[in-house]
Amino acid sequence: MTLIEEVNIRKVLDSRGNPTVEVEVATAEGFGAAMAPSGASTGVHEVKALPKGGVDAGMRFFNEKVGDELLGMDVLDQRLLDGLLKSIDGSNDFSKMGGNVAVACSIAFAKSAASALAIPLYRYIGGLTGQAQLPRPLGNVIGGGRHAIGGTDIQEFLVMAQSGPPSKTVFGNALVHRRVKEKLAKKLPDAAIGKGDEGAWVAAITNEEALDIVASASKEISQETGLDIRPALDMAASEFFKGGNYVYKDKTISPGEQIDYVLELIHKYHLCLVEDPLEQEDFGGYAELTSKVNAECMIVGDDLFVTNTHRIKEGIGIGACNSVLIKPNQIGTLTDTLDAVEITHRAGYRTVVSHRSGETPDQAIAHIAAGVGAYAIKTGAVGGERIAKLNELIRIEEDIQGGIL
Ligand code: PGA
Ligand code: ZN
Repeated sequence: MTLIEEVNIRKVLDSRGNPTVEVEVATAEGFGAAMAPSGASTGVHEVKALPKGGVDAGMRFFNEKVGDELLGMDVLDQRLLDGLLKSIDGSNDFSKMGGNVAVACSIAFAKSAASALAIPLYRYIGGLTGQAQLPRPLGNVIGGGRHAIGGTDIQEFLVMAQSGPPSKTVFGNALVHRRVKEKLAKKLPDAAIGKGDEGAWVAAITNEEALDIVASASKEISQETGLDIRPALDMAASEFFKGGNYVYKDKTISPGEQIDYVLELIHKYHLCLVEDPLEQEDFGGYAELTSKVNAECMIVGDDLFVTNTHRIKEGIGIGACNSVLIKPNQIGTLTDTLDAVEITHRAGYRTVVSHRSGETPDQAIAHIAAGVGAYAIKTGAVGGERIAKLNELIRIEEDIQGGIL
């Protein structure tokens, strides 16, 4: 037994300058601290990130109702501890405590347990799942939507190297990010080009212009580095689904036309992955789209699944998507996150472990992605809170010695 002796919560900054929480969990043998990220384009079925009253109310709930209950518990019993968090909260969506308080607490348990066992977090998680493997970094290079007002309607234009260890692929993505900036500056010589919430470039261009630039930058960097880097999208389509149609700046199209449009983009730009191409309730539309792409392109559900085992099972049952985005704070505990990964992998679907647009330097998702054997990790291409995870992947690669890709 490795008993929890002390817990602590504090308010810290996230990358958007908003308050978030950090939770610390100490035992006689070890210590763990974790910070929670937060989303801007959140799915309606996610747990509530914070209770009414925000971060302060969440911290008050923790101090009054949670902290003392954890003392004396075995930090190695992750499932029991996560269950306790849920039962203390008492709602089915963490609306009393806030999913962000819960997830910081839950990941701090795991970090504290790994520290007590003197093993890296990914090995502790890998021990729980038996699947450790290095993920492919998926990084956004142009951004729009909710993350960058004034940019494209599509939220994220990303790139991913199809194979290679993180010590090579993270540099490939960063090179594409830089080449994209050069191409944008050439195309818009007099315009200011900024960055969105996740470090991707923001410019007043169309979706197709952005794809042309990302596709040609990927091709050039692939030739220069020998990596096979391909473009990808997170359309975050629920954000522009209005009155039953998909409303772009330059066109309004029906759900059927949206499926055709997505297929056209996949074929024209040889996309390796498209996340949230349809709105978050359209399981049937996802099944139709997925049946038309087969395994040629990953169709990833984020707002559709919200890391929720019930929604993932519903999707798997009808063949909606072939991949699932995994965000621990969407569901609130590490146990529920690992359960979501397990049913996804068992169905032959791939997982992509993901950051949020509002992040912290917490590195846990790099360990979760490697520990569960996720196919990919979406965590940006550049920026302090993003490279915190990317650089950790390089360290994990060294620890694994050689990797398994
Ligand atoms: P969010 O966006 O973190 O703002 O929700 C990321 C995404 O949609 O994948
Ligand atoms: Zn998304």
